[in-house]
Amino acid sequence: MTGRLIAAIDTPELPRAQALVRALAPHCGMVKLGLEFFLRHGPQGYVAAAQGADVFLDLKLYDIPNTVAGAVRSLLPLAPRLVTIHAGGGAKMVAAAAEAAAQAGAARPKILAVTVLTSFDGAGLAETGVAGGTAQQVLRLARLALAAGADGLVCSAHEISILRDAFGEKPLLVVPGIRPAGAALGDQARVMTPEQAVAAGADYIVVGRPITNAENPAMAARAIAEAIS
Ligand code: C5P
Repeated sequence: MTGRLIAAIDTPELPRAQALVRALAPHCGMVKLGLEFFLRHGPQGYVAAAQGADVFLDLKLYDIPNTVAGAVRSLLPLAPRLVTIHAGGGAKMVAAAAEAAAQAGAARPKILAVTVLTSFDGAGLAETGVAGGTAQQVLRLARLALAAGADGLVCSAHEISILRDAFGEKPLLVVPGIRPAGAALGDQARVMTPEQAVAAGADYIVVGRPITNAENPAMAARAIAEAIS
């Protein structure tokens, strides 16, 4: 199903983002815009880049509940399909984000919680005062976020089965760190292929550089979409 592929448009340049979205939208369920783009071009740039495509807006919000609720309300006119927040902001913050999103009714953005950034290892987490390792912290924060009203989680492919075992089929699992067989890893260390991640239970896979750095991004996206259809 083409709809499971999300293409990450990781560029701060508006014309490049527009060209990529035009080329990729027919082959993807959504495009992902992040902080790098949104902080430079703002809501107007978002509209100009999206050109009507469905958007996963990856801003990883983290602040006091009142501020995060206000931030989500500020995004509602843009109608992103998915918005990220940090589960580490706590249950009240997650609930505030979910309640703010609900104000948009049926077309509300779904709230995805980020648990532990993949840039952390156990030692890095320990430095922040979290003992017990990343796997335990991912599960703890996932439980907190889902109980507080998050629609789903961003997770690595290697966390899918443990999260499905713990929380069942309902949470949306959105999975970056995906590499088609033979693709360059870049800075992603623990990857899965698109087929493996979908077979493991991913609702959506997020793919950036293997598509955007390809000689023909549209063909690269189409090949991935076909591989998981
Ligand atoms: O280019 P690549 O396929 O590695 O891009 C993956 C996208 O997913 C990037 O936008 C990256 O910021 C994002 N991401 C990630 N790992 C996470 C969360 C988000 O790679 N844990």
